[in-house]
Amino acid sequence: MAGPFDSLVDQARADFDARPSQPLREAWQDLDLVAVRADLVARLLAAGIDDAVIEARFLLQHTLAPMPLEAALAGRELVAWRQISDLADLAWQRLQRIPLSQVLGSQPFWTLDLKVTADVLTPRADTEALVEAVLARCSDAPLHMLDLGTGSGAILAALLSERAAWTGLGIDLSPAALAVARQNLDACALTARAQLAQGRWGEGLRDHSFDLIVSNPPYIVREVLAGLEPEVRDHEPAMALDGGEDGLDAYRVIIADLPRLLRPGARFALEIGFDQAGAVLGLAEAAGLTALECLQDLSGHDRVVFGQAVLPNG
Ligand SMILES: C[S@@+](CC[C@H](N)C(=O)[O-])C[C@H]1O[C@@H](n2cnc3c(N)ncnc32)[C@H](O)[C@@H]1O
Repeated sequence: MAGPFDSLVDQARADFDARPSQPLREAWQDLDLVAVRADLVARLLAAGIDDAVIEARFLLQHTLAPMPLEAALAGRELVAWRQISDLADLAWQRLQRIPLSQVLGSQPFWTLDLKVTADVLTPRADTEALVEAVLARCSDAPLHMLDLGTGSGAILAALLSERAAWTGLGIDLSPAALAVARQNLDACALTARAQLAQGRWGEGLRDHSFDLIVSNPPYIVREVLAGLEPEVRDHEPAMALDGGEDGLDAYRVIIADLPRLLRPGARFALEIGFDQAGAVLGLAEAAGLTALECLQDLSGHDRVVFGQAVLPNG
């Protein structure tokens, strides 16, 4: 005779079966881990994910941690069904082309491991060129910096983590992004030296000036957005990507404000798209900024425009 508990069990079973990752669980239930990995790689490739082998490794490592993947592959029976089930959940998300960083919840950047959600741009390796350029040009003397469009807080956290005497302010228009930045600064033990505030670029900074201003603003040409990979187009915040009709909307506003926000002789560094050096250097020159240079990322693409506010004596 069916009792009240049976209906709970039926409900739980229905919920379990309704999980979108259930077909993966079923496919993997009788396979050993080596075969599960092969099947996962095949499914990732079929979903259009080129780095399938390395991504499968990340997904497996994340699920099996702290057990090393090699140990798990060697001693297949050590892997619990619970772990295969968790792997199915993560893999299903990735097969929907949700970025790996969002599936895993974090992304390495510089020397840090930063929290990532759908509310922030995943920090890119290209942006490390900006961090490197700043560190190569600015000593560890005390300095107050501004990060416009801080997102996850990646640039702010990386620079403050390298320069113990620096303080900084991160501005973003998105409160949800600022919540992620706050958690990252906290996790990096940087909250004592970093502030965050919601704002539209430098607009709200009336009586402030800075020794260094950095920004990686949205710079993708609007027309190009629809053709981007689904990970970016469908899962990263549009306001972190959309640079307007010619990709330069944010630079126009930010650069026009730099002379006001920079102390005399203070420096700035802007990340740019690979084909934007001429336009951004032109805007900086027109704003009266000086010592302008363009630096390349590790792939040899123009990536950072660096410069300075004029000193009072010119
Ligand atoms: C390309 S993302 C850069 C994020 C982070 N700094 C990084 O390098 O990974 C640009 C950031 O600018 C923010 N943003 C867009 N429009 C803004 C505005 N008008 N004022 C302030 N921030 C803005 C977005 O929310 C996003 O976090």
